[in-house]
Amino acid sequence: MTTTPPHQSHQPRQAACPRRRTVLAASAASAGALALTACGVEDGEDAADPGAGPIAALVDVPVGEAVAVKTPNGGDALLFRADETTVAAFSAICTHAGCTVQPDGGRLHCPCHDSVFDAATGERLEGPADAPLPPIPVRIEDDQVVTAVPE
Ligand code: FES
Repeated sequence: MTTTPPHQSHQPRQAACPRRRTVLAASAASAGALALTACGVEDGEDAADPGAGPIAALVDVPVGEAVAVKTPNGGDALLFRADETTVAAFSAICTHAGCTVQPDGGRLHCPCHDSVFDAATGERLEGPADAPLPPIPVRIEDDQVVTAVPE
């Protein structure tokens, strides 16, 4: 008798997602709705509480690419550097079913059901997710990318 390990299954992996992710997904989905009504990062709205502090050294984020990072509170996030002075960050918790979205060059890809998101905006480009990835406000401070706490 042969069995297929869960990580090789083509079935939805919702049951394989840890309970914490499910909670984060619900939180992210609610926060995503808030972010949509608030028109994104520029308005200082946050998807979740990422905490305050550095999340990456600027030198570790190549221009035109996305990288996976942890927020100061330990959450999974994705960071994209559009040019020398512009960065954007998003929750890595997929708005479809809570899997962890991965960087894929200039795009963001969810391995569970193949949703694809724009790395610069977090907008959904393909797949079953019906909401963008919630933005996390960030700024460049010295040679670090830090979460930006609204004042
Ligand atoms: S969890 Fe289904 S596409 Fe991401």
